Amino acid sequence: MDADGLDALVRRLRAAGCVFAEDEAALLVEAAGSPTELDDLVARREAGEPLEQLVGWVDFCGLRLVVEPGVFVPRQRTALLVDEVAALVGRGSVLVDLGCGVGAIAAAVLARCPGVEVHAVDIDPAAVSCARHNLPPERVLQGDLYDALPARLRGEVDVVVANAPYVPTEAIALMPREARDHERLVALDGGPDGLAVQRRVIAEAPAWLRPGGHVLVETGRSQLDGTRSALVAAGLAVTVAADEESGGLVARGTTYPNSGMEGVGAPT
Ligand SMILES: C[S@@+](CC[C@H](N)C(=O)[O-])C[C@H]1O[C@@H](n2cnc3c(N)ncnc32)[C@H](O)[C@@H]1O
Repeated sequence: MDADGLDALVRRLRAAGCVFAEDEAALLVEAAGSPTELDDLVARREAGEPLEQLVGWVDFCGLRLVVEPGVFVPRQRTALLVDEVAALVGRGSVLVDLGCGVGAIAAAVLARCPGVEVHAVDIDPAAVSCARHNLPPERVLQGDLYDALPARLRGEVDVVVANAPYVPTEAIALMPREARDHERLVALDGGPDGLAVQRRVIAEAPAWLRPGGHVLVETGRSQLDGTRSALVAAGLAVTVAADEESGGLVARGTTYPNSGMEGVGAPT
């Protein structure tokens, strides 16, 4: 494409509200196989489709991960969850990523900590299809949270991680159009208080964790009290990490080594 064509493209994207119009133009040109395809991609971008779904990939923690239309685009704030998990696992650790989406968390941890045994689960077939590109495909399972896991993992998991949907149903309408119109509801909607899926992740975690194992969840500022209560109710010791710059917020529940449920009500 010549310089005038590129200028015109940047102007179109800027007029559509794209803040990084030059970068987006370059990525769309790279993704398009022909001028007609480029025009189609730009028109879809102008209409509000997420750039990552249009070009087919997202940069997450330095990895280029496949993202298909309709599938949740990993957010940069979720890098905090990756940092927190990576600090807890090593070669041979068993990691379960529930509601894995494109597999971003598990893929980033695996890239940083080779030799971790990863199992990733999502209920959405399109997310599973993406995750099978981004992770060892045999380690990506389709199903409802723990139901998808092999029974042999009960009591053997070092870390359960989940960035489950945590937006309260009523707040979905307030989300940016890119999310509301182009990511599946099942990826966003956390029920009346945002915690419907996350509570299930936490409540069932102790049955799958080995003694001393951890469950880590990304949560929202408004959901943190509820997340904390769910972790305490599951008999877990709670710690919280936050990254003000990215907005990341992670709550961790840790089982008490060699114990059953005596951690219930432990101080947070
Ligand atoms: C907020 S997105 C996060 C995706 C990914 N963890 C990430 O951080 O990029 C939540 C994901 O949870 C999945 N999900 C929702 N309910 C689920 C359930 N009951 N069982 C398995 N996956 C579920 C959605 O399909 C979606 O991919």
